[in-house]
Amino acid sequence: MSKHSAKFAALFARKPLDALLKESQDDTKLKRALGPLQLIALGLGAVIGVGIFVATGSAANSVAGPSLMLSYVVAGITCVFAALCYAEFASMVPVAGSAYTYAYATMGEFFAWIIGWDLVLEYGVASAAVGVGWSSYFKSIAETIGINIPQALSESPWRYNTEIGQFVSTGSIINLPAALVIIVITAILIKGISESSAFNVIMVCIKLAAILFVIAAGIFLVNSANWEPFAPFGWTGVSFFGYNVAGQAGQGGAPTGMLAGAAIIFFAYIGFDSVSTCTEEAKNPRRDVPIGIVVSLLICTVLYVGMTAVLTGMVKYNELDLNAPVAIAFRQHGLGWAEMIISAAGVAGITSVLLVMMLSGPRIFLAMARDGLVPKSLFGAVHPKFQTPWKSSILIGFFILLLASFGPIDFLLHLTNIGTLLAFVIVCAAVPVMRYTHPDAKRPFKCPWVPVIPALGVITCLMLMFSLPVGNWWRLLGWLGLGVVIYFAYGFRHSELNKFRNR
Ligand code: ALA
Repeated sequence: MSKHSAKFAALFARKPLDALLKESQDDTKLKRALGPLQLIALGLGAVIGVGIFVATGSAANSVAGPSLMLSYVVAGITCVFAALCYAEFASMVPVAGSAYTYAYATMGEFFAWIIGWDLVLEYGVASAAVGVGWSSYFKSIAETIGINIPQALSESPWRYNTEIGQFVSTGSIINLPAALVIIVITAILIKGISESSAFNVIMVCIKLAAILFVIAAGIFLVNSANWEPFAPFGWTGVSFFGYNVAGQAGQGGAPTGMLAGAAIIFFAYIGFDSVSTCTEEAKNPRRDVPIGIVVSLLICTVLYVGMTAVLTGMVKYNELDLNAPVAIAFRQHGLGWAEMIISAAGVAGITSVLLVMMLSGPRIFLAMARDGLVPKSLFGAVHPKFQTPWKSSILIGFFILLLASFGPIDFLLHLTNIGTLLAFVIVCAAVPVMRYTHPDAKRPFKCPWVPVIPALGVITCLMLMFSLPVGNWWRLLGWLGLGVVIYFAYGFRHSELNKFRNR
């Protein structure tokens, strides 16, 4: 083989499944502390948050109307397809790194790098979005007890104006509550996974109680006339790089309609995949990780549809509040005490989302560092006492801090969605590839109806990607371009798997 073709082949070198399994059996230094219930709680902790508590308001207002309840079904089904594929991999390759590791075993190093890089974007930007959402709920609670946080210290200095497709100044300086919560959560995560997990279980119980309360109390306040018209923006909303393919274009040319709503509130489901990034900390990963992923997803779908149906029945879709729609819906019915309870539970719920989102990025980098694709001394360092990837937690925490302090929420939400959908597309595509290349590998959990489910996963995720405003495609491509440059500057030269080529 010529030197050039050897280098080209190295780009697509696959990490052998045996090597991955050996890694998980060796002493990995992370503590195995999580059982099935804690994993389901991690899933719920990651999933129920800003999507349902915050994004529902603006998505119903200007993108989908009451049909948003069906948007949740569409996004939920899309996630079930992806979840079944994730679960097969998580049971087969029970090591940290999630989709990154799966891609390394199936599609080779270059794709693995792309997806790892993409996942770091997903978790990083999602954490910042959640930090900003947390700040709005925190601010509203503070106001109800008479503490006024000035706008200059509680908002991003910029806002993304969809009508003109540009950032405009808000006159604020920094989102201080968002910055502070990021610092506190980073410290909790460095301290240790067991403590973090116990904290998460308490938060999850609080927010489940709040959602059940909203559904049970809100159902008596529903006026079915509010569900008319059911789909004021139509049923679709798909565009191809700025050209509307189906449905109406809204402000700034962004797609609107029930499907476009699904692309936005898809954010509410993000996080179930992070359960698979904690595989090395699970007591029985082959059984418990698929259970954690699928069960948490199903619970969320049922709760979201119920809550959106109740909300859009309680308040006309175009009168829903944009910042705290769930709590304010009760204020609109004169129930201030209920608003207070829901706001407090909202803050607790969103805190647990932050915890899981921020837990995931450093673990992806840990897996990449072991493979030599990012510097080991920084991203592979596990704290001798706390047994957590502390250095990368601090570094990633710092970038999240910057994004949360200064980033506008819509911008962060949409960018997270497109990055996550891309990761799902790759995971779904990798399942049939792996079945073909490793037909005899042990699969404790098997995705049913392969290749139909993975194909449906790819199609539905792509459809949602095309239902997002086009600017997100350019931002995603820019991030991936930067990733390719870094890969060739560092990862390609230091890869453990392909060390021979550098001799
Ligand atoms: N699904 C998470 C949320 O909605 C990211 O906050």
